[in-house]
Amino acid sequence: MKRSILVCRLALAGLFAVVATVPARAEGNPERGAYFAAISDCGGCHTPGAMTPEPDKTRPMAGNDIGFALPGLGIFYPPNLTSDMATGLGGWSDDEIAHAIRTGERPDGRILAPIMPWHAYAAYTDADMADLIAYLRSLPVVEHQVPGPFGPDETPPAPYMAFVFPE
Ligand code: HEC
Repeated sequence: MKRSILVCRLALAGLFAVVATVPARAEGNPERGAYFAAISDCGGCHTPGAMTPEPDKTRPMAGNDIGFALPGLGIFYPPNLTSDMATGLGGWSDDEIAHAIRTGERPDGRILAPIMPWHAYAAYTDADMADLIAYLRSLPVVEHQVPGPFGPDETPPAPYMAFVFPE
């Protein structure tokens, strides 16, 4: 009898060990996350064709081929935020996505240009961030590589908007 209880406990411990090693994924609410994405206007930059009269609403957040030129910094295109492995956030953990949105630091250490409003998004609470990430994870996966980023002296092959500071 005692032995069977022990076996049972060991089996349960094994089960918890397996559960604990599954990589963390957001358990947020994607519908509420869609609301946060809307009021934070993520799609106003990251959806293809955003900033033109006809954004491609069939590919929400799949990356924009219209960039922003920041004097002295470079030209930056809003990347694909869908979960495509090669061209989107498919290979990023939830923590990596949250860290980039709040601090501007990508997993490779590069700090995102401040046209990506991460200074403002630093205020996201953990619960709201989990909802936002759950929404990003729920998007249709689209393969789309945006150009760049480019240095300030490079000539990008795709359109961009420039900030001009008169002398
Ligand atoms: C004003 C335009 C703008 C808005 C609004 C915006 N972004 Fe961005 N975002 C960018 C640009 C441009 C980049 C690329 C910057 C760079 O490469 O340095 C970027 C980069 C990112 C990255 C890094 C992706 C990568 O592959 O490097 C993530 C994640 C991201 N944005 C998420 C979001 C989310 C989520 C929202 C809404 C809460 C949002 N962004 C709103 C312009 C924007």
